[in-house]
Amino acid sequence: VFSFKLRGAYNMMAKLSREQLNNGVICSSAGNHAQGVALSARKLGCDAVIVMPVTTPEIKWRSVERLGATVVLKGDSYDEAQSYAKLRCEQEGRTFIPPFDHPDIIAGQGTVGMEIVRQLQGPLHAIFVPVGGGGLIAGIAAYVKRVRPEVKIIGVEPSDANAMALSLCHGQRVVLEHVGGFADGVAVKVVGEETFRLCQELIDGIVLVSRDAICASIKDMFEENRNILEPAGALALAGAEAYCKYYGLKGETVVAISSGANMNFDRLRLVTELADVGRKREAVLATFLPEEQGSFKKFAELVGRMNITEFKYRYDSNGKEALVLYSVGIYTDHELKAMVERMESSELKTVNLTDNDLAKDHLRYFIGGRSEVKDELVYRFIFPERPGALMNFLDTLSPRWNISLFHYRAQGETGANVLVGIQVPPEDVDEFRSRADNLGYEYMSEMNNEIYHLLLRSPNKV
Ligand SMILES: Cc1ncc(COP(=O)(O)O)c(C=O)c1O
Repeated sequence: VFSFKLRGAYNMMAKLSREQLNNGVICSSAGNHAQGVALSARKLGCDAVIVMPVTTPEIKWRSVERLGATVVLKGDSYDEAQSYAKLRCEQEGRTFIPPFDHPDIIAGQGTVGMEIVRQLQGPLHAIFVPVGGGGLIAGIAAYVKRVRPEVKIIGVEPSDANAMALSLCHGQRVVLEHVGGFADGVAVKVVGEETFRLCQELIDGIVLVSRDAICASIKDMFEENRNILEPAGALALAGAEAYCKYYGLKGETVVAISSGANMNFDRLRLVTELADVGRKREAVLATFLPEEQGSFKKFAELVGRMNITEFKYRYDSNGKEALVLYSVGIYTDHELKAMVERMESSELKTVNLTDNDLAKDHLRYFIGGRSEVKDELVYRFIFPERPGALMNFLDTLSPRWNISLFHYRAQGETGANVLVGIQVPPEDVDEFRSRADNLGYEYMSEMNNEIYHLLLRSPNKV
């Protein structure tokens, strides 16, 4: 099933009595746990119902169905799917198989730790483990700390899905309001009770990593082994690398768990785009050039020997300054800094966009789009991936207010990340917010992002 999740599910289900197996099992999951439960049920000869949110991409529920389970699509979110699964569990006497928070699930995932210890008998500095709900790390820590207490167990989370790091910091389980969906295998709002208890007692720390760093690790793994990991599967590798670099670790043995390879193929486009940024091999920049003859040549001279990997320019009849968006292949931070300084000292305002997700996901595609739009508000909305999501959005907000900007590029994520500009007069802002809240899509303002003002607002006001 291309992930470790089979271990926990099978361990729990193999311990059920024949009578329990005859009554069947049920679980709710939009991902790898579903496949683990489905395959275990087939091996153990029991009936499995898997409840998935209606937004689950077809490719995911089809692969579960192919393993012989009955898929029920119910609810808009994981929480709704879970409530329905628990209800059916009571009504039908099925056993609920949770994704992480159960001693048998934790023990099953812990077999990963047992295998590492058996296969690596020499000195071992640390094991890096991806963390979602915490089942895998709790199981590995419980086993390894018993037999090799000197080995550090370090969790790795995406910096925008850091439920375990925050919970450990506050000494209690924290519920995240927003969870980044890029590494969907570990995108949980709250970690388990038992997994948290074990992590508090046993693990040595958590490393947080960016989306770019995860992409860079996916590329490294591909280049080394020709394997393609899913984002959650490459998380630990990214964390191990950041940790070793930070502590200047050399000559030590560390293990990073590559936990899954259920990569949505469409997402590879984004991964390849971000991988070089994550490795600092490519930087994304914007430079403002006076709209006059010879500017372009001067710009090219200042770029010097840096290798331009992407370049976008469009004449702007309203502007005194042209905006050039480009990427350069970089060799060292020093060379990049020197180039930006060359631009600045020739009075060519230059902005490094490399760490700005709004620029990388949306604004770099908007060349030539700068204008002064009255009462414009700009938000990022996360549209659920289901037919009708756009119509629902438009029905709620338009034609009441004019849409002044819209950018969406499919990136194979669970929710579509859409940038929307909308003209809302000040007296309508409260009504707009209440309608946007009722829509039920996650959204966040980008009005304070200076890059939006720089790249999209009128050049005359720059
Ligand atoms: C590929 C992958 N890695 C890591 C995890 C995290 O596991 P846990 O929820 O036990 O922390 C998951 C969970 O589904 C996963 O699918």
